[in-house]
Amino acid sequence: MIGDRKVLFSGMQATGNLTLGNYLGALQNWVNLSEEYECFYSVVDMHSITVRQDPAELRRRARALLTLYIAAGLDPEKCCIYYQSHVSGHAELAWILNCFTYMGELSRMTQFKDKSSKHADNINAGLFTYPVLMAADILLYQADVVPVGIDQMQHLELTRDIAQRFNAIYGDVFTVPEPYIGKVGAKIMSLQDPMKKMSKSDENPNASIYLMDDPDTIMRKFKRAVTDSEGSVAYDEEKQPGICNLIDIYCACTGNSRDETVAEFSGKGYGEFKTKVGESVVEKLRPLQEKVAELEKNKDFIDSVIKNNAEKAQYVSNKTLRKVQKKVGFPERIR
Ligand code: TRP
Repeated sequence: MIGDRKVLFSGMQATGNLTLGNYLGALQNWVNLSEEYECFYSVVDMHSITVRQDPAELRRRARALLTLYIAAGLDPEKCCIYYQSHVSGHAELAWILNCFTYMGELSRMTQFKDKSSKHADNINAGLFTYPVLMAADILLYQADVVPVGIDQMQHLELTRDIAQRFNAIYGDVFTVPEPYIGKVGAKIMSLQDPMKKMSKSDENPNASIYLMDDPDTIMRKFKRAVTDSEGSVAYDEEKQPGICNLIDIYCACTGNSRDETVAEFSGKGYGEFKTKVGESVVEKLRPLQEKVAELEKNKDFIDSVIKNNAEKAQYVSNKTLRKVQKKVGFPERIR
């Protein structure tokens, strides 16, 4: 708790360009949640270097992501929007938690198994202990809730285990976080393979709508979206997964229901439907893109957000860190 509000922590990596899926499925929800919770939204750049990054590119993307958080409607006066690497407590707590996490637990993480097979030439220790850094992120702020996608649930479970293990030894030090499972939180699938989630790391650029795609690109990608040979706009997950995805995207962008959408396009062809879906996405992203362009011109404002919020995060996280350091037996600081 901070004041009378529960604490929420979440973060995104600045690798790859964010997609429509990230926006409709996560970022938009974050904005709603910021009404209710005391929120910490981090750009988790320390996680990113577990795979090789081009330094200039990482820096550029990190800033773009932080700007996007604000453009999406997160108020940097109310939410703490900051770079993970600017707050030293993340690394410090991660070290301590490493000593309370078992090799066996980390070996079972499916993301580690995936990533180490993808990056077989660089299976570094950071990739292995990545979930411990994530646990440190969350536990540092005594977060009550963590909105995460299903792919991060295993890491959140581990975070809970580590917190409970630590608490069992040292007393109630950490808040044990709960996952926040969004209400509807649109799950957006790839435009090229509707059985796969739309992903910023997809190799096929036609599979994903990136938040900064221009209108022509968006329209072209929807024209090429994979559908089926049924030929009617209906919500049938088994026979028409591609159409279902397009319906969900349309609903998320227009606020209409599935039934309304199916009714709207009854008797109409896929070509016309795809055009309408594309247009709804263009309109949805337009204000976001305009806001990003406006913020990018205001360097001083973004810089002040970066500075002030890092200080706030440092202050809040230090309280937890000092407590933990004391519990494990580090000598007191002499002032
Ligand atoms: N691992 C998360 C991802 O790749 C990002 C992340 C890092 C995170 N630390 C976090 C998410 C803490 C929620 C809470 O998506």
